[in-house]
Amino acid sequence: MAGNWKMYKTPAETVAFFEQFLPLVAGADHRRIVICPPFVNLAAAVQASAQSAVEIGGQDLYWEREGAYTGEVSGEMLAAVGCRWVIVGHSERRQYFGETDASVLKKTAAALRAGLTPIVCVGERLEEREAGRTEQVLARQFAGGVAGLSAEEFARIVIAYEPVWAIGTGKTATPQIAAEAHAFLRAQARARYGETAAAGLRILYGGSVKPSNIQGLMAEEEIDGVLVGGASLEPASFAAIVGWENGDSILNPQFRPA
Ligand code: 13P
Repeated sequence: MAGNWKMYKTPAETVAFFEQFLPLVAGADHRRIVICPPFVNLAAAVQASAQSAVEIGGQDLYWEREGAYTGEVSGEMLAAVGCRWVIVGHSERRQYFGETDASVLKKTAAALRAGLTPIVCVGERLEEREAGRTEQVLARQFAGGVAGLSAEEFARIVIAYEPVWAIGTGKTATPQIAAEAHAFLRAQARARYGETAAAGLRILYGGSVKPSNIQGLMAEEEIDGVLVGGASLEPASFAAIVGWENGDSILNPQFRPA
């Protein structure tokens, strides 16, 4: 269960989040919980979560180890600050910052080189879905991006299916729509890397995930987890998503603050 904070929160707000969030998920040790804050909050997040099972990730990286690349941060730097994960190729990076399938592949390989688990994002835009081109777009993003990895590398990545029309819009893909896209991506993985790799691939769904829709999404066998934007910013809502099997409530004793 991963949270993408996008460009929200200061270091002080990050510390305050963890103070409230950690007690709420103290009983959730059957879950893998990842939070990806802005770069400037990573050190604070790593420190605040050090005594917990929560893991921290970056939201982007550059593929060189170091160098004259003003404004960029490498995977090795993320790992050095205590990150275990990094988001790669989020649709907002593709839309506003010129990311391409080719740059996604380079960044994914760089993340693996640094020992990070990349969460590689794919997903179609509204006009592409309406034109019946969803599978074509996903196939292109898969082929141009992660299909360039070796089998050993591919075994270490996580894919996030994030339909662009569902991000920040309140329009969640129905569990069925998401599951169909996940199955399509898994079939791409099977064709390129074989049955074992496809079965072991973890695919997260992202796009307007909320406490109120998490159960329906997680009921789908194809959906291995979620990448949450807006609803990961509030401790109570993200805790309710993490503890989804207890219903739309953190009042379950397992998730009640100590
Ligand atoms: P929202 O959950 O705010 O729709 O964002 C989804 C997302 O982009 C996660 O990476």
